[in-house]
Amino acid sequence: MNDRTQAVELIELLRSRRSVRAFTDEPIPSEVLRMIAETAVYAPSAMNRQCWHFSVLTKQEEIRRLAEAVRIACGRDEGYNFYRPAAMILSSADRDFPMGRDDCACAMQNIFLSAYALGVGSVWINQVRESSEAPAVREVLTALGVPPTHAVYGAAALGYAAKPPRVTEKNLGNITYR
Ligand SMILES: Cc1cc2nc3c(=O)[nH]c(=O)nc-3n(C[C@H](O)[C@H](O)[C@H](O)COP(=O)(O)O)c2cc1C
Repeated sequence: MNDRTQAVELIELLRSRRSVRAFTDEPIPSEVLRMIAETAVYAPSAMNRQCWHFSVLTKQEEIRRLAEAVRIACGRDEGYNFYRPAAMILSSADRDFPMGRDDCACAMQNIFLSAYALGVGSVWINQVRESSEAPAVREVLTALGVPPTHAVYGAAALGYAAKPPRVTEKNLGNITYR
């Protein structure tokens, strides 16, 4: 990237993204969702193995079924629903590849940032990873297209924000310069 204006805009995008935890019922147009999902595979991956898979869910019934299985496996209260997103993207990678989790984390950030650039809110849902080896959750994941040899390392809930997200403080003190 040579254009300084573009660089400044990109950095502002990185700085202003925040997690969204309340979504409207508005669906995300399929071409927008496709653009977001495709940025995942442009993330760096260890040795460029790309032994990952991204499962894009848009059917409310399927998202609800997954949320219900995760809720029970994690002992969450009734009403647990991933914040009722319009869509979800599950990032999974070959269980036997030691860097799969790192690869998926990079892909997840691409998903969050491209979504934000396109006006779509997002948040990481950690309970899918926590419960993904529970048989009842795995059964749903397999039905939703997650390869059985894969561990689920990330889940992004996506949708249009129902209210502005909380602007969390970021701590520049976590950086040292020498
Ligand atoms: C690995 C990871 C797991 C997370 N799990 C959850 C989660 O299960 N539920 C949730 O609401 N937010 C989750 N988050 C979002 C964080 O809470 C959020 O990124 C953090 O509070 C900073 O806020 P920001 O994203 O608005 O900058 C997770 C984020 C990461 C990176």
